Formats: sequence, C-alpha cells, structure tokens
Amino acid sequence: MQTKYMSLDEFTIQQLRMVPGGTGELSRLLRDIGLASKRINVEVNKAGLQDILGDMGVKNVQGEEVKKLDDFANNQLIYVLKNGMSCAGICSEEEENIQVFDDELSNKSKYVVLFDPLDGSSNIDTNISIGTIFSIFRRVTELGKPCTIEDFLQPGSRQIAAGYIVYGSSTMLVYATRLGVNGFTLDPPIGEYCLSHPNIQCPADGKIYSVNGGYYRQYDPSVQKYIDILQNKTKEDGGPLTQRFTGSMVADLHRTLIKGGIFMYPLTTDNPKGKLRLMYECNPFGYITEMAGGRAESGTGKILDIQPTSLHQRTPIFIGSKNMVEECMSYVESPV
Ligand code: AHG
Ligand code: MN
Ligand code: MN
Ligand code: MN
Repeated sequence: MQTKYMSLDEFTIQQLRMVPGGTGELSRLLRDIGLASKRINVEVNKAGLQDILGDMGVKNVQGEEVKKLDDFANNQLIYVLKNGMSCAGICSEEEENIQVFDDELSNKSKYVVLFDPLDGSSNIDTNISIGTIFSIFRRVTELGKPCTIEDFLQPGSRQIAAGYIVYGSSTMLVYATRLGVNGFTLDPPIGEYCLSHPNIQCPADGKIYSVNGGYYRQYDPSVQKYIDILQNKTKEDGGPLTQRFTGSMVADLHRTLIKGGIFMYPLTTDNPKGKLRLMYECNPFGYITEMAGGRAESGTGKILDIQPTSLHQRTPIFIGSKNMVEECMSYVESPV
C-alpha cells in the first residue's frame, strides 16, 4: 500500500504559515535542528563500529564524564545552528556559558536555542535508546544586537517551541508549539522525517510509573508514601501498575507521552536540588507534555512557572498523565 506521509518541512511550513505575522524563521530553525539530528543519528548508528564509544576523559560543567558522542552531538548542533539563519545563540548542557553567534544574520534572528545534545548518554555503551532535547525562546533583547543571557533565562511558559529526538528502534522527532504536539519518524532511505504521530495527546491516566527505585531510601517520606501507594494499587483502583525506568529521560518520557503514566525524578540526599536540568530537560519536556494535555510539576509549583536564575540549575520533576501527576501532588505537596 502506498501512503503519503508529509515531511517535517512541508508540515512546519504549512502549519506555521497559519500563524499571523509568521516569517518562516521558526520552520527554518526546526529544519536546522532536524538536520543536526540526522547527522547525530548516523553517528549513533555506527556506535560500536567506530571509535565513538566511551569517555572523552574530561568532565563537563555538570561534573559528569563527557562521552565522545555527547561531544559530537554538541558540536553538530552548534555548527548547524551557527551556520543557519534563524538562531542568535545557544546554550547547552555541555557548555559552561551561552554561545553568542554575533554575526549580522544571527543578530537579526528572533530565537535562541537551549539543548541537551545527548540525553541518556550513560546508556550509549549498552545500546539503549538515547535522545536530544531542545527548547526555543523568542529573544527579549533588541534584534540586530548580539543576544545576551537575559534571552535565555526565561521561564518555560515562554517557550515558543520545544522538542526531542529519540534514537530508538526507529528515530523520531517530536516537537510542540502552542498549536499542538506532532511526531515524525525518520525514513532512512530518503533521510526525511515524516509525520507519523499527528496531534499527540498524553492520556489522562496511565498504568506505568517511572522512577529510579534504587534511590527509594534517599527520597522524602512524602515521595516514598506515594511510591508505596503506586505499588499497592489493587485491580479495584486501577492496579497493578508497571514500573519502567531506562536512565534516558527521552525514552521514558516518549513512552509516557504516548502511553500515559508518570515519570519522577525527586530530590535525593545525593542531589538535594534535584538531578535533572531545568533549562535542557525539564522545561522542554514540561512544555511538550502540557501542550499534549499532561502536567509537569516540581513539587512546589509548575515547572513552566520557575523563573530561572542560572543556566545549569536543577529541579525535581513529576511529569506525565494529568490525573496521575495530580494524585502525586496530593502527597508530595503536603509532606507527611
Ligand atoms: P544526560 O545523559 O543528558 O546527562 O541525562 C541523564 C539523565 C536522564 O536522562 C535520566 O532520566 C537520568 O539522568 C538518570 O539518572 P539516574 O541514573 O541518577 O537515575
Ligand atoms: Mn550529561
Ligand atoms: Mn539529559
Ligand atoms: Mn546530555
């Protein structure tokens, strides 16, 4: 059977043309991110055949070992966005400071991009799904001048678009704008992302919870109580539930978005401010999930309402199906 799948380019141009005052700059930016991700995908697929597994032998600003693929993905995204026409500057999980592109075209660009170039990189060496996460803000500083840190330190509710690529059993790019959330699967022979998951809605309830159970003793008693409740659900109250946690937020949240469920990375005694990064992980996924009808909370309020004070700040996160996150907050927001 011959099926016509719309390409990412065709879709974004058609969808964003409907927006009054649209200039096509966002479509170009999404195309650039798509292009960088295809290059990353080619490299990820060769992992094991070439000398791209393992560590660079340096630590990043997060205090983590940098993998060779973290570095490759970071460089590809910077290269493509710097040479494109739609991005004034970037900030990355792997970079200490923002990178201001500061040339004539870039300074005229409306957007800045923040990204986690490779998410779940501790999984690379064992061939488990990994991903790329991105977040796009409209600049608040004057166009025509170089962008500044102010353009980056905006609350997640002001994102214009956010998305991720999951390098899984197939490679998919999912992105959200206020017009909705759509998923595109990479068709390898033609090298195009094709619309395969239009108008993604996160189910209001789910059967899967996702948390690193190995840290149970490090969680606050209110979180432990909620996990106990999940583990003890009977058939009458929707149980038993399934537990899944890959160590790649992208893979866990892609599943949560499609099938429903809850993903949690609470405070631990080892990471008393949380582990996941607000700007590169929690904001983009908060936006995508909320645009799909789900919820994203920190335990003290909405993820998207946090006013960032630094580029690499961390936050606890409880995200996924609306009803499950609400139930979770009824325990977690009121400590036992
Ligand atoms: P990254 O590879 O970008 O540094 O992110 C890894 C993150 C996230 O993807 C995952 O959910 C979490 O770290 C897993 O952490 P633990 O191993 O502490 O559970
Ligand atoms: Mn990392
Ligand atoms: Mn990550
Ligand atoms: Mn990363």
